[in-house]
Amino acid sequence: MKYAIIYSSQTGNTALLAHHIQCYFKNDECVYYGPITNECIKADIIFIGFWTDKGTCDGPLSEFLKMLQSEKIFLFGTAGFGGSPQYFQTIINNIKSFINPSNQIVGTYMCQGKMPMSIRERYVQLAIENPHKFLPLIENFDEAFSHPDSNDFQKLTDILSTLPNHM
Ligand SMILES: Cc1cc2nc3c(=O)[nH]c(=O)nc-3n(C[C@H](O)[C@H](O)[C@H](O)COP(=O)(O)O)c2cc1C
Repeated sequence: MKYAIIYSSQTGNTALLAHHIQCYFKNDECVYYGPITNECIKADIIFIGFWTDKGTCDGPLSEFLKMLQSEKIFLFGTAGFGGSPQYFQTIINNIKSFINPSNQIVGTYMCQGKMPMSIRERYVQLAIENPHKFLPLIENFDEAFSHPDSNDFQKLTDILSTLPNHM
């Protein structure tokens, strides 16, 4: 199988998933691994990674997705908020809306990803005025801080193992 991994990662969480996918397919041919590119990619499957930016993927990645035609795509990504499969599904659906129907989405995977400490510091300040709103956000921040973790990587492996051998 020829595959490509194209990902957008600001702080490294999604990059860790990308690396995990590459390790999983170490016996296959990786034709491209890295950030969004204008290079013409000829692969049996393209793994596309995103970080969640305001409920969807970031702008450059959405523009890249809009250009794809007749590809097999596996979407993977991370988000600061976790704990709800419906939340992840909403994000995936938002991102799918950028993808032309000539493409086939063969799988998706999302997990939580840690956020920069500056965000926690801001929440702590804001919680002084509005604890009802910001204490749960601090709790979520702390929950996210260890992700992606070994359990997240195992779940990704499980999903990858369901993909047909030769796409
Ligand atoms: C500007 C900005 C916007 C974000 N928007 C969201 C969001 O809408 N929902 C969410 O769950 N996480 C959001 N996050 C958190 C990131 O998606 C999360 O930390 C992700 O794992 C970062 O991935 P990366 O390390 O690959 O860049 C946002 C982070 C930043 C910096």
